[in-house]
Amino acid sequence: MAFPAAFMDNLTARCDIVDIVRGYVTLQKKGKDYWACCPFHNEKTPSFSVSPDKQIFYCFGCKKGGDVISFIREIENLPYPDAVRFLAKRAGLEVPEDNRNLAESRRRARILSLNRDAARFYHQLLKAPEGQAVRDYLQRRRILWKTAVRFGMGASLDAWDVLLNAMTRKGYSKAELLDAGLVVKTQKGGLRDKFRNRLMLPVIDVRGDVVAFGSRVLDGSEPKYMNSPDTPVYSKRRILYGMNLAKNTKRPGFLLCEGNLDVVTLHQAGIDNAVASMGTALTEEQARLVDRFHKKELVFCYDNDNAGEIATSRALDLLRNAGFTIRILQLPRRRTETGEYVKQDPDDYIKFQGVDAFERLLNGSERAADYRMSQIAAKHDLKTDEGRLEYSKEVSDFIVSMDNAVERDIYTHRAAEAAGVTKTAMEELVQRTAKAAYSRQRKQALRRELNPATQMVQPKERAFRYENVRSARAEAGLVRLLLMDESLFPVPFPLTREDFSAPLLAKAFFTLWDAKEQGYPVSFHLLSEALTQEEVSHVTSVCQEPESSENASKALADYIRVIREEAERRSERTGEDVLAAAQRKYKKRKNEGGTRI
Ligand code: CTP
Ligand code: MN
Repeated sequence: MAFPAAFMDNLTARCDIVDIVRGYVTLQKKGKDYWACCPFHNEKTPSFSVSPDKQIFYCFGCKKGGDVISFIREIENLPYPDAVRFLAKRAGLEVPEDNRNLAESRRRARILSLNRDAARFYHQLLKAPEGQAVRDYLQRRRILWKTAVRFGMGASLDAWDVLLNAMTRKGYSKAELLDAGLVVKTQKGGLRDKFRNRLMLPVIDVRGDVVAFGSRVLDGSEPKYMNSPDTPVYSKRRILYGMNLAKNTKRPGFLLCEGNLDVVTLHQAGIDNAVASMGTALTEEQARLVDRFHKKELVFCYDNDNAGEIATSRALDLLRNAGFTIRILQLPRRRTETGEYVKQDPDDYIKFQGVDAFERLLNGSERAADYRMSQIAAKHDLKTDEGRLEYSKEVSDFIVSMDNAVERDIYTHRAAEAAGVTKTAMEELVQRTAKAAYSRQRKQALRRELNPATQMVQPKERAFRYENVRSARAEAGLVRLLLMDESLFPVPFPLTREDFSAPLLAKAFFTLWDAKEQGYPVSFHLLSEALTQEEVSHVTSVCQEPESSENASKALADYIRVIREEAERRSERTGEDVLAAAQRKYKKRKNEGGTRI
């Protein structure tokens, strides 16, 4: 255990989950639980619940859940020990640091310091005579020296071990260099620099730490971009390139683009709110990062190709109903000298058309709703009756999902025009769709209130799917009972890990059980520590199911019996399989023998 049990008990006793969650969302009491719109996904009707009795939260929509520590982990993007420290600070408790924790945070601190030193080293090289090739490249890309400095750019040389040697001399170990992803193993088992002969682009987080590196080749060779792998201090999903600078912008929102050098060119041109997701579709974590700065709008400027469109759509889904408006900036294709039309990214556009033209586009950029509307229109053939009917259905679904009545009215009108029907007809369709959607939602909510448990037979995460539902239900019951009342359980416990059919439930149960055997109190925070967030969420969903405390002993006996029965059946079946296989083999041999004769 990373922190002493007594400390953890004290901490969890002082951090009431309702109090803590209240700091982030507005809770409403309904029955004995509290409800809110989920802070982890976008929704209009509350499916996020907090139970003061069980001291856990659970969202019936996105199925995230856990105890107060898991909540802080999720919402503050922190690893387990840091979430504990965060809560301790809030509760005014001193954290007893044990060696493992100290070692872990020291390891992270070392990697960050190594990254900073490496960034400085690359930057020095960019200024040195050896950096000429990279400086030439900057010039070709029209990146000013001032800009290069602001982004902390650097040069890696066309050599195998320049960084390795320099950092080793500074006292960093090989293990640390590997941890940071700055060197890689060679086939012969030695080490070499990961980045060679490249423009180095340090990735700096909002705290100002160098968490990773991006890099670009100077010529047309592959791979064009090379980035640090995920490390103890870097997760690609959680970072937006340029946010360390963009967070200080006075503009009303952020401009989200794909490429590192797009961000660089944009900032250089005075558009200082640009950030990049570095080639990937926007993730949930990045969406939350954007949300943290309470901006009014977000402008997407992704590539005008298929991949860019898919990325944009996905991001729109992620961010719908977030607290800002979303606009789409689609850059027109450019005609080359040969008459061909090619796509442009912000960097190209500013280079060929200038920043004023870009600002003009930015001011007029399409609202997200317009973008969706034209996407839906493009899917149907509006020249045929059938196409217009299909279009009307789909577009009314979309209109119904809009928050604002005026907006709904405007788009209903436009949809009617596009479909070539009267506005009244379109209005009627939208209203009917709204009614259907509303009654669907009501029914869902009702079902949830009546019986929150029935949907939980199979876990949402594919990896956790149960192979044997009957046994898994009983295993889940054991976890639930153990958390509810450990004194019910017989010692020694008559089942082993092998008797369990679901690996996750076995892990959860025996994490608790092992602690109990060592004399620690059974508590949910043991799970927060031992399991991943996804695993914690699933175990929380298991805990949502009702368990009667009156018949608990009987339930416990039943669960144990069922698990035993299913385990025996499994072993019989393996026995059977062996037999069946032997028989098949025998038959096959006989047949082969037959043909030979
Ligand atoms: N990218 C990456 N690895 C690759 C290619 C791309 O990580 N092999 C990421 C980079 O962050 C890059 C972004 O995806 O900036 C967009 O890629 P692309 O559109 O191909 O390149 P540009 O940003 O236009 O790069 P450049 O202008 O330097 O050619
Ligand atoms: Mn480009």
